[in-house]
Amino acid sequence: MAAMSDILSRINHLTEEINRHNYYYYMLDDPKISDYDFDQLLQELIDLEKQYPEYARPDSPTQRVGGTVTKQFETATHLYPMLSLGNTYSEEDLQEFDSRIRGLLHASPEYVCELKYDGVAISLIYEKGVLVRAVTRGDGVRGDVVTANVRTINSVPLALQGDYPDLLEARGEILMPFDSFETLNAQREETGDPLFANPRNAASGSLKLRDSSEVAKRGLCFKLYYALGENLPEHNHYNQLRKLHEWGFRFPDVMEKVSGLEGVHEFIRQWDVKRRELPYPIDGIVIKINDFAQQQQVGSTAKSPRWAIAYKFKAERVSTPLLSVDFQVGRTGIVTPVANLKPVSLAGTVVKRATLNNRDFMRELDIRTGDSLWVEKGGEIIPKIVGVDLDRRQPDALPVPFVTHCPVCGTLLQQNEGEAGVFCPNENHCPPQIKGRLQHFISRKAMNIDSLGEGKIELLYNQGLVRNASDLYHLTYDQLFGLEKVLEDEDGKSRMISFKEKTVQNILNGIGQSKGVPFERVLYAVGIRFVGEVTAKKLARHFRTVDALANASQEELMEVEDVGERVADSIILFFNRTENLQQIMDLREAGLHMEVEETAADSETAQTLAGKTVVVSGVFSVSRDEIKQMVERYGGKNTSSISKNTSFVLAGEKMGPEKRRKAETLGVPIISEEDFRKMLETAES
Ligand code: IVH
Repeated sequence: MAAMSDILSRINHLTEEINRHNYYYYMLDDPKISDYDFDQLLQELIDLEKQYPEYARPDSPTQRVGGTVTKQFETATHLYPMLSLGNTYSEEDLQEFDSRIRGLLHASPEYVCELKYDGVAISLIYEKGVLVRAVTRGDGVRGDVVTANVRTINSVPLALQGDYPDLLEARGEILMPFDSFETLNAQREETGDPLFANPRNAASGSLKLRDSSEVAKRGLCFKLYYALGENLPEHNHYNQLRKLHEWGFRFPDVMEKVSGLEGVHEFIRQWDVKRRELPYPIDGIVIKINDFAQQQQVGSTAKSPRWAIAYKFKAERVSTPLLSVDFQVGRTGIVTPVANLKPVSLAGTVVKRATLNNRDFMRELDIRTGDSLWVEKGGEIIPKIVGVDLDRRQPDALPVPFVTHCPVCGTLLQQNEGEAGVFCPNENHCPPQIKGRLQHFISRKAMNIDSLGEGKIELLYNQGLVRNASDLYHLTYDQLFGLEKVLEDEDGKSRMISFKEKTVQNILNGIGQSKGVPFERVLYAVGIRFVGEVTAKKLARHFRTVDALANASQEELMEVEDVGERVADSIILFFNRTENLQQIMDLREAGLHMEVEETAADSETAQTLAGKTVVVSGVFSVSRDEIKQMVERYGGKNTSSISKNTSFVLAGEKMGPEKRRKAETLGVPIISEEDFRKMLETAES
């Protein structure tokens, strides 16, 4: 066996070597070795770290693939508050900004113009050159700690190089490029998950995922725009970002020093057009005073710096004739009007359809037949209807009527008091509602039967094979084999496919495997109105069995966190319906989990740490996150700083001397990993 010191030095060598190649590849666009050679090095490191997890470094490039599952995000206070920027929309506003600055400085400063990235602000903390923490903006003072997720982003350096300072805070934006956004939404469409409206929401949603290996697949990138720290060497913003580039960050793709307002205007005019060629979204331009001394001189307000301003691009809008309105029925019966528009080109894409939201929206806008509508596309990818082009209205135009009956099943529509949506109450016999519920049932976060998709559900429904979720569990090979489906290409051509052996087997396997899905997801899958993924989880943990939930009173239901009157009533209504009770019985009979499975964490002894507040510090035989998860699983609470309320400090190797001293001063016990494990084992036996 190799000596430990050899292993350690090989891990160190690989970590540094791979980080260096990542830098060439991602920061300089100048790879020095082939992808194959790179993968070989990475695989060697992954294998070694698996064998010797205690030697894995915090800046290890293997963290790019993710794998940490966080229960919920801790929050951290920003070292310096994260301010926002004042917004302007016009050249006059910019003139005012410039005059104010010239007045304060008695001089005309040099400005730096940058892109205003349309994503999520992030603060990256580097201690001794290693990324130790990534925190979202939050309320500007405190944000969520999303380090494991951010470590998966290739353009975030995990370790710095060169003459970096001991403490550095790099700020920038986490973005989702358009191509990643499209891929993600296409996948979500396939699995029946709701689509993200724009890349910004998608980036923000991705950063809050609990499983970092999922984040690694989302194709996020980081754009640097600012740095903070003590004794930073440069005297202006431009050179500072250059310096950060030397230390390992990507230099902004677009950044220009200009003197005077004319240069700013020119930059804006250029990028208002060229932004369409960028692979990621921006929603404006940021103008900053370059010189730090001058920045200091003009200062900041409590909310935003006076030395910088954001110029936001105006949303583009066009008016185009409304050809007709379709009425779509969703899984909950809500009827959504959708406008068919005369195709029109807007901000790079052709718009043909756009939602009219609901009946109230159509009334408010007073949409009439023959009208032309204003369609707008700002930061949103999805075009929005924002009004009627009254100049083009015909004098005798009448309001576009909203359907009174369900366009599919003909039932008289209803509207609940205080709700904008009109719905079809025929939930058990209205085809789009039935199909919508089935789609929801098989979707990824519900039963996750990915061998079935929208097209296949449609087919099974049309063939009369499936009417509700429990029917899926009675499908047989013979029923499915040879079923034929018409596929339509993008150019309108259609072709027929028929289910062969492999497809059928996949479908049946997928359905079979779904029987292992835990109760909380089954509860989400059955589609109780207002019971989303998170509420389902809380209900499952509280009531533990479907029978207890079905028999709960409004009051009992409202004891669950996040469950208010509206949700409680919806649950009661659901279990009052015979069809739903029958469905639950059938699903139970099919073998689905209708109660929480007992795990170690649920057993009596597992709550050993109930009421205890624990600080985990140092390096352990498993990752620190795993240790923290153990604390929570056994009922304890993790915090990051030691106080007199800390029950004990769980100390791994290399625990910081500062923490040790503090614990000792406050008389907080320090427990080793071994003792901790013994403590849990003893309680368990
Ligand atoms: S500088 C002290 N530069 O826009 C202010 N911000 O409200 C430092 N943003 O929260 C911000 N691109 O997340 C700066 N090139 C850029 C930016 C940028 C996008 C975001 C940032 C901030 C928001 C402004």
